Amino acid sequence: MAIARPIQIRFERYSGDVGLAPAKPPRIVTAEERPALVAKAKRLLKERDAVLVAHYYVHPDLQDLAQASGGTVSDSLEMARFGHEHPAKTIVVAGVRFMGETAKILNPEKRVLMPDLDAECSLDLATPADEFAAFCDAHPDRVVVVYANTSAAVKARADWMVTSSIAEKIVGWLHAQGKKILWAPDKHLGDYVQRVTGADMLMWNASCVVHDEFKSIQLEELKALHPGAKVLVHPESPRAVIEMADAVGSTTGIIMAAERLGAKEYIVATDGGIIHQMRKRLPGVTFIEAPTAGKGATCQSCAHCPWMAMNGLYGLIETLEGAPGHEVFVDPEVGLRARAPIERMLDFAKVHLPTFQGSGDA
Ligand code: 13P
Ligand code: SF4
Repeated sequence: MAIARPIQIRFERYSGDVGLAPAKPPRIVTAEERPALVAKAKRLLKERDAVLVAHYYVHPDLQDLAQASGGTVSDSLEMARFGHEHPAKTIVVAGVRFMGETAKILNPEKRVLMPDLDAECSLDLATPADEFAAFCDAHPDRVVVVYANTSAAVKARADWMVTSSIAEKIVGWLHAQGKKILWAPDKHLGDYVQRVTGADMLMWNASCVVHDEFKSIQLEELKALHPGAKVLVHPESPRAVIEMADAVGSTTGIIMAAERLGAKEYIVATDGGIIHQMRKRLPGVTFIEAPTAGKGATCQSCAHCPWMAMNGLYGLIETLEGAPGHEVFVDPEVGLRARAPIERMLDFAKVHLPTFQGSGDA
């Protein structure tokens, strides 16, 4: 898995502006350096009473370390749940900022640290809290459901927070009660949830810069070359790509589908970082990254989140050594308001999605 990603990427704002977001790759770790760095990070985690909660998209070094040190590698729902239930005094989140903020909102008494606080998300960046509040104010008859990939201030304005593993269930449940939904920010996930549930959903207009790049025409061509391969798709992908899927799900949902479907080959339409876990769980099975660009492009699969890629071993060690600029802070008043929609989701998950969703010791 490549870790050096583009320094600048483009994203579309809700207002239609196109902005530039910096994403700096972490210091490269060589094979010779790795064992000593991993040992040091493990020792520091223990000494600091810290648990490492990592997302599947971060570098394999951090995924393996999380699993080997009693932490977890998981999707955003389980990251929130695991960090919340773990007794450690410090939670280290290897992921992007909204994941660190969610951990802090749920655990205001704990220290929440991140290897790089500049690790953003295009969906979060495309949802400025003031524009979003105006959108909500204009539609007071709707229940506000926001995706986890948003700032604390946006969550503070919501009735519910959802992740991709539970969005369908929560929106379906609200729809069954006759509620109309205001949905933000991912338009592809919103479109998918709308089609599955039939709910009345008013959508914000933003997308993930990674998943938005998957291309259905190139996927058809790839499928023709691998007729036995099953296609696994994250619902942040465009509709035409989702329609070609054998299974659609959150990152954990994708891994579980691969285990369930029993194929020898899979084409995976999400960040390629997930393939590390898939190979560990299903040795001997072939995983192919879904194509993100057409013929003639220099990049045939650029499906790697530049912000997730900012997490590295050196940054983690610096964080655990107490370097400034790694602690996540959320305004306590905003945090208190943002907590309600997250807890509503976690309470709902206890009843409707009770099974373990992450990956501890491998
Ligand atoms: P999951 O909750 O499915 O892990 O998704 C998080 C994310 O940011 C996907 O791009
Ligand atoms: Fe955000 Fe997309 Fe990166 Fe996920 S992959 S963190 S949705 S930019």
